[in-house]
Amino acid sequence: MGENPIISLQNIGVSFDGEAVLNHLNLNIRDGEFVTLLGPSGCGKTTTLRIIGGFVRPDEGDVFFNGQRITDLPPHKREVNTIFQKYALFPHLNVYENVAFGMRIHKKSEKEIRKTVHEMLEMVSLSGFERRSVHRLSGGQQQRVAIARALANDPKVLLLDEPLGALDLKLRKDMQVELKRIQQTTGITFIFVTHDQEEALSMSDTVVVMDKGFIQQIGTPQDIYNEPQNAFVADFIGESNILDGVMHEDYLCEFAGRRFPCVDKGFAPHESVDVVIRPEDIDVMPPSEEYLTGTVTNVTFKGVHYEIIVDVKGFKWMIQSTDYQEEGALIGLRIQPDEIHIMKKSEYSGMFGDYSTFSDEMEEDLALSEEVEREE
Ligand SMILES: Nc1ncnc2c1ncn2[C@@H]1O[C@H](COP(=O)(O)OP(=O)(O)OP(=O)(O)O)[C@@H](O)[C@H]1O
Ligand SMILES: [Mg+2]
Repeated sequence: MGENPIISLQNIGVSFDGEAVLNHLNLNIRDGEFVTLLGPSGCGKTTTLRIIGGFVRPDEGDVFFNGQRITDLPPHKREVNTIFQKYALFPHLNVYENVAFGMRIHKKSEKEIRKTVHEMLEMVSLSGFERRSVHRLSGGQQQRVAIARALANDPKVLLLDEPLGALDLKLRKDMQVELKRIQQTTGITFIFVTHDQEEALSMSDTVVVMDKGFIQQIGTPQDIYNEPQNAFVADFIGESNILDGVMHEDYLCEFAGRRFPCVDKGFAPHESVDVVIRPEDIDVMPPSEEYLTGTVTNVTFKGVHYEIIVDVKGFKWMIQSTDYQEEGALIGLRIQPDEIHIMKKSEYSGMFGDYSTFSDEMEEDLALSEEVEREE
C-alpha cells in the first residue's frame, strides 16, 4: 500500500434541500487500500461515494486524486469506476458484451478486448459464460459480471455501493471472500459501502464509521472493535455493555458502584466517561464480594456460545459464555483491567447501554416475523 493518499476528501459539506447530509468530512484513502464506509441507512455513505465518483458536487470542500484537485472533473474523466447498489447490467447484451462495453467505448482493438474479457471472466470464475444472456444468470453470477465489467476498464479506484446487498447469506459470504481476493490480486483501491458491521470488519483494511453525516471513527477493524471512540460506535459494532462511569485518576475508574483498575489514562481527575465492556470479555465466577454479582434473567443458545442476561442492581448486562447458566442463578462477573474501555462522553451518551429491553426486542422480532409469514 502506498503512503500518499490516492483519494483525499477535504472538509466536504453537502446539503440537499437545505438539509446537511455531510459535514466537515475529511478522509484520506491510500493507494491499494480496502476501505469500507459503514453506517446506518441515511448516514451519507452513498453520497460520499457519489462525491468521489463525481456524480455529486460538494457545496463545500475539495476532492483530490493523487494530489490533484478533481472537484470539478466530470465522472467519465476520473480514473474511478462504480458498481452501484443495483448493478444494472445491459439486458440486451450477453456476458461477453457486458464486460467488453467500456473497452468498446474507448475504441480498444478486438484482440485486446478478447484478451481482457477472457482474463476478467476468469478472475470472477465465469470462464465459459461468454455467450450466456444475462437473464439466464443467478444473482451471484450477475454480480460477478458487474465486477468483471468494472475491472475491465482498469480503474485505479473501484467504488462498490452495497454490491452484495441483494444476495442471500451463503452467497454473500462466498462473494465477500472472492471480492477480497480480487482486491488483493489486482491491487486496485476498493471503497466499499455496507451497513453490515460483520462484513465491514472481515473485509477491510480500514473502516470508516459514519452517522448523521459525520465520520464517527476511522481505523482498522481491530481499532474500531477494541477502542470505539464513542457510545455510537461501541453500540453499532457488535454487542456492548455501556455504563456511566468516572475516571478518578489514571488507571482507576468507577462504574456499577465499584472502583476498577483499568489501562486507560489521560482524562481529567474525576472526569465523567462512558465505559464499554464487551459481552465476551466478562468471566462468569461464583458469586463473591470480590465481583459484581447479579441474577441470570435470560439465556439464549447461539451455537458457539450462550448469550446470558444478568441483572446487577437493575442494570442488565449481556455476557457471552460457552458455559450454560440457569435462569435465576446468582453469579459473579469478573472484569479484568484490559477488558475495560473508556470513552469520552458524547452526544450519544445515555442513548445506548444495558439490555433491559432485550426480551421486548425479541418479542417484537417474533411478532414481526409472524406478520411476514402471514403475508407470504
Ligand atoms: N438527491 C437527493 N436529494 C435529496 N436528498 C437526498 C438525495 N440523495 C440523498 N439524500 C438524502 O441524504 C441523506 C444521505 O443519503 P445517502 O444515500 O448518502 O445515505 P446512505 O448512507 O447511502 O443510506 P442507505 O444505507 O439507505 O443507502 C439521506 O437523508 C437522503 O434522504
Ligand atoms: Mg446508500
